[in-house]
Amino acid sequence: MKTKHVIDLESLSIEELMEIIELANEIMKDPGEYSDVCRGKILATLFYEPSTRTQMSFKTAMLRLGGSIIGFDNPQNSSVSKGESLKDTITVVGGYADIIAIRHSLEGAAKAASLYSAAPVINAGDGGHLHPTQTLTDVVTLYNEKGTLDNMTIGLCGDLKNGRTVHSLIKTMSHFKGNRFVLISTPELTVPQYIKDIMNASGCRYTEVRSLAEAIPELDVLYMTRIQRERFKNYEEYEKQKGVFVLDREKMRLARHDMKILHPLPRVDEIAEDVDYDDRAKYLIQTVYGMYARMALIMKMLENADRKPMPRQFDTHNVRCSNPNCISYTEEYLPRIFHPLGGDMLLCKYCEARNLI
Ligand code: NCD
Repeated sequence: MKTKHVIDLESLSIEELMEIIELANEIMKDPGEYSDVCRGKILATLFYEPSTRTQMSFKTAMLRLGGSIIGFDNPQNSSVSKGESLKDTITVVGGYADIIAIRHSLEGAAKAASLYSAAPVINAGDGGHLHPTQTLTDVVTLYNEKGTLDNMTIGLCGDLKNGRTVHSLIKTMSHFKGNRFVLISTPELTVPQYIKDIMNASGCRYTEVRSLAEAIPELDVLYMTRIQRERFKNYEEYEKQKGVFVLDREKMRLARHDMKILHPLPRVDEIAEDVDYDDRAKYLIQTVYGMYARMALIMKMLENADRKPMPRQFDTHNVRCSNPNCISYTEEYLPRIFHPLGGDMLLCKYCEARNLI
């Protein structure tokens, strides 16, 4: 793999992505063959935000490859609670571990970590921004359960604004040919503008709709998501959004016989429990695919990873990112790095927010 860090799957070519999917499938066929390939290697999991599947599947993946694990799942038990900066924590852990998976509540945190880590960094979710290894999980699931990654009508339903898994999945699926997106949400929770820009740039068709029952008959895939309570300003705002979209047996009667239901989990109330027994429900097996996907990713990243920290010279700007959830907003020592978008616009390299000069 050419890229050292995996902050966004966009840094992988389609060929590299397909190699990871194929490797995940190879491991799945004969896990015993791979039980020693990471012997002597250490994975650090730095989870500043709660997690069940991502954290445990990363740990299990490394253990099943014969490696070892260190890390924390509650920053209050680490020096973060004493006020240590992300830069200092990462510099130290990058010296201990061979590879790091980090989850953080602020957008761009994994990108920031990659600037200071000698070890390769994997983004295990950064605020409401991205979640590339969930997307790997999703594409391995789709490849196995649909047999293709092309020419699908993909419905995404729920919190499309704050759902980082949605953003990463759209980015990746828009590179495959003929995919079309049906975005099912309330007007308050539609996808951010930069995701629309990506769909437009790739020529992918998309529609924004308000009814799951009306959208469901045409879907090849339905990607359900929960309303992200922790990303709302207050509970009242969340209350207005929760329970709007619920997939139940009645709606499943309107769906195609070969439609597949995915969900990154955790589920709150958006999929009725009895849908679990429908053959089209793939969200539980999806978690198993995720472990193999992460095994393949760890193997590929460790194949030729160097231990050189990133260069410390950056083209910095005077502008400060205006997104209050951006890591550069909180960790003020971070270099202010942007992509010029033309005109007066700059795209923050941490969180992808647009900023006016
Ligand atoms: C997702 C996440 O953390 O973004 N969960 C996961 O990693 N499987 C989805 C969510 O929390 O809703």
